[in-house]
Amino acid sequence: MLILGIETSCDETAASIVKDGKEILSNVISSSLEYHKKYGGVIPEVASRHHAENIDKVVAGSLKEAGIKIEDIDKVAVTQGPGLVGALLCGISFAKALAFAINKPLLGVDHLSAHLYSPFLENSDIKFPFIGLVISGGHTRLTLVEDFDKIKVLGDTLDDAIGEAFDKVAKILGLGYPGGPIIDRLAKQGDPKGIKFNCREIKGTLDFSFSGIKTAVLYHVRDARHMAQDTRHMEDIAASFQESSLKVIVNNTIKALKKYGIATLVVGGGVSANSRFRELIKKESSINDFKAYFPPIKLCQDNGAMVAGLAYHLYKKGYRSSFDITANI
Ligand code: KG4
Ligand code: ZN
Repeated sequence: MLILGIETSCDETAASIVKDGKEILSNVISSSLEYHKKYGGVIPEVASRHHAENIDKVVAGSLKEAGIKIEDIDKVAVTQGPGLVGALLCGISFAKALAFAINKPLLGVDHLSAHLYSPFLENSDIKFPFIGLVISGGHTRLTLVEDFDKIKVLGDTLDDAIGEAFDKVAKILGLGYPGGPIIDRLAKQGDPKGIKFNCREIKGTLDFSFSGIKTAVLYHVRDARHMAQDTRHMEDIAASFQESSLKVIVNNTIKALKKYGIATLVVGGGVSANSRFRELIKKESSINDFKAYFPPIKLCQDNGAMVAGLAYHLYKKGYRSSFDITANI
C-alpha cells in the first residue's frame, strides 16, 4: 500500500511516499526556516505563505523521487494537528482536494503520535506498550502508548516546551535560530556544572516547566556583562542550561517507566536529535534496564514519512476521515 503523507504543521512543507508503513520511497522537505531566522522564532503568516506557495511542488517532488504517478497513490494522509492553524489548513486543504480528485481515502493524523512513529521507520522490533516521549518546539509530553490509537497523556509542559526553551535561551545569548542545534554544539565545549541553573521538577506529577530556568539564564546574562568577551562563559551557560533541563526530562521519563513497569521508551520530535540527551538516555537505559528507540536524525524534525507511516496502521484499524475535517490546534 502506497501512502502519501503531507505535513505542514509548522515551518516545514513536507511530503513523503511510504510503502506498507515501513519503506520510505521519498521524503521531501522544504523549510521556511531562513525567513524566520531574523525574528528568532517562527512567524505563522510567513510559514503559511511558504506552505501555500510550495505544497504542490513538494508533493510533485515526492512522487518523482518515489518514481510513481499520482494515480499510484492508494491513500492520502495529512497532519491534522496540533500546530499553527493557517499552516495546518494548507496541508489539510491540499490533501482533501487531492484525495477527492484521485478518488482515494483521506486520513488526518495526530502530529504528536506521528512523531512517535518516526523510530518505527528504522526499527521493526518495537513492541507495545511503551512510554512515548515527544520533545519538540511545541511540546514536552510523556505518554503511555498501548497501541497506535491508544495513547494516554502522563505528563505535559505547563509553560514553554523544551525546544522553545532552547530557542529562547539561544536568543538571550544572541546565538541565532533555531537554538537547539546551536546550544547542543556549544555545550560540548562548556562545563555542565559551571553555573547553577535550577530546573524544577513538579512534585507528585510527571509534568514539566522550563520558564523558570529560561528566566534564570536571562538574569544571569544580564548580570554578566563581560560575557560578550568571554566565549568560554557562553559555553558554560549553554552546557549548564542544557544539562539541568534535560535531566528533568530524563528523571520524569524514568519515573514513568518505573511507575508503569515498562521497559521500552520511544522518543520523537526535534529535540530528540540532541546529542547530550541521547547520551544521558543511553547511560540510564543500561542502569535502569530499558530499551530506548530514537528516530534517525533526518526524521527527528517534522516530515511526511512519519505521517504516512502512522496512517498505514490506522487505515488497517479502519480509520478514515471525511472531507469536512479541519485543523485540530
Ligand atoms: O519537531 P520539530 O521540528 O517541530 C515541532 O513540531 O515543534 O522541533 C523543532 C525544535 C526547535 O525548537 C529546535 O530548536 C529543536 O527542535 N531542536 C533541538 C535540536 N535540534 C532541533 N533542540 C536541542 N538539540 C538539538 N540538537
Ligand atoms: Zn513536530
